[in-house]
Amino acid sequence: MRINRISGLLLSVIAFAAPGFAQETADSVAPEGASEGQVQALTDELIAALEAKTNGVPVQSENWMVAAANPLAVEAGAKILRAGGSAADAMVAVQVVLGLVEPQSSGLGGGAFLVWYDAATGQLTTLDGRETAPLDATPTLFQDENGEPLQFFDAVVGGLSVGTPGTPALLEEAHRRWGRSPWPGLFTDGIRLADDGFLVSPRLASLVANDAERLSRFPATAEYFLPEGEPLQQGQRLMNPAYADTLRALAEDGAAGFYGGQIASDIVRTVRSAPGNPGVLSGTDLALYQVIERDPVCAAYRTYEVCGMGPPSSGALTVGQILGMLNSYDLAAMGPESMETWRLIGEASRLAFADRGRYMADSDFVPMPTAGLVDPDYLAQRAELLNAEGALTDVAPGNPEFDHAMNWADDESLELPSTSHISIVDSYGNVLSMTTTIENGFGSRLMTNGFLLNNELTDFSFRTHRDGVPIANRLEPGKRPRSSMSPTIVMQDGAPVLAIGSPGGSRIIGYVAKSIIAWADWDMDVQQAISLPHLVNRFGTYDVEVDTAAEGYADALIEIGFEVNPRDLTSGLHAIEIGETLSGGADHRREGIALGE
Ligand code: GLY
Repeated sequence: MRINRISGLLLSVIAFAAPGFAQETADSVAPEGASEGQVQALTDELIAALEAKTNGVPVQSENWMVAAANPLAVEAGAKILRAGGSAADAMVAVQVVLGLVEPQSSGLGGGAFLVWYDAATGQLTTLDGRETAPLDATPTLFQDENGEPLQFFDAVVGGLSVGTPGTPALLEEAHRRWGRSPWPGLFTDGIRLADDGFLVSPRLASLVANDAERLSRFPATAEYFLPEGEPLQQGQRLMNPAYADTLRALAEDGAAGFYGGQIASDIVRTVRSAPGNPGVLSGTDLALYQVIERDPVCAAYRTYEVCGMGPPSSGALTVGQILGMLNSYDLAAMGPESMETWRLIGEASRLAFADRGRYMADSDFVPMPTAGLVDPDYLAQRAELLNAEGALTDVAPGNPEFDHAMNWADDESLELPSTSHISIVDSYGNVLSMTTTIENGFGSRLMTNGFLLNNELTDFSFRTHRDGVPIANRLEPGKRPRSSMSPTIVMQDGAPVLAIGSPGGSRIIGYVAKSIIAWADWDMDVQQAISLPHLVNRFGTYDVEVDTAAEGYADALIEIGFEVNPRDLTSGLHAIEIGETLSGGADHRREGIALGE
């Protein structure tokens, strides 16, 4: 009975009590409602977690919590936490299951950024597991014989776009630093589900159907996602024995079992022999891959420090710029229904994106004004531009303090939404916020050993120069492409109070900034903040979430002077508030849950 009830709930009304926003129907806001098949596979505790999301209330717990994009992955992490594992241990279990049940978004063939609060030391740090450009890659990799940029999907599909995967090394490094559970046990659920099969979720089924033509171009990929030529169906049991073998190799040999030996050879062969679009990744690239520890980038907002991933991600800098510019405006008094609120958020975002396009890239390769970009004086000066009547007609990069004079041209890389976010708090007080990706949905569409390979290199600018001036985020051998991933931990008085992040291409930045504002200024709990309809502005056009109350703001935004584009805005926010108790939220726009005890 309960099974039927939750299934019905998911397919009927999704109520979320965001102040000022009308309740939405599932038809309009939940493109990925759970199927009967999915639900039947779930335990009572997962069903309760789905109910909480459906009812728009946060999940509460005392000791630990995990929030991620698929119930089976969350359950794998919960088992580890329940048995006394750390957030880093649980993350490994979550990631290896996500790579199986949500293969289009993240996995072993991709990269990730991890932000970590260490309860024992009180310190925040970050791990950069971003893909690298192969050493054989040239800056003009994505240009045709006339020096013109390739069409986006001509570059994405095939071997050319594949960077050196970073995720397996990141899993091992996080476990080496912060793990408490034996490494092999973290793969148990992933191996079992890959061997025995799992039920294809509605989201996976619909994305396979939409991408069937591209997935059909490569035999290994077609065989898995389009068995006998037909797209996978939701509720169908899917086994992935090749992935189970890969997980066994990782469990036994660690990341060395991925970056060397048979799996590494298979990756290189798959990339270099991709029909029509071979790439240049080599065994040397895999053997040389390194995770890099980096200082977090933090920006002040109200009584908080909002901390996240610095370069090569633009995430923390751009989120920090938006919040920093808004810091002197009383958004709490204006509230979420004021058009002045959305004018200010939209314009701060456009200004931040102008700086992002000019200055942000892999700072190991290009000089970057990292500190200058979030300097409060600089942001106060940029915020003066917000004192305008209508929409700004001219939005240009500013001049942050820069100790290394450099003249950059504006970037034009295109990032389409995919990706996944994991938030975890363990019973020791450690906090993990990790965003993980293979870039485009299904990445390069190349598959080997049961996992998809990324297309992360298309996050570089396809052009190298503009009017003779170099672009900071141009491709260079060994460089990491600029990201928008924004895994975030919000601190107050030296203690973590919120872990949050999202998928969504470069709109990730707007989703995360808006949710932090809703939580910090409008007293929304994490579930309300996540569920609040999206309004996102990056380059001038205001994207408003179709069929939500946000769409009702279109006329007023047009009157202010914005172009408006109603569209799906499929974030996948997963957040945990850390107070006396833990309070978790999962995005109704995807299939995830928060779960804790
Ligand atoms: N490929 C998505 C991102 O890194 O932002």
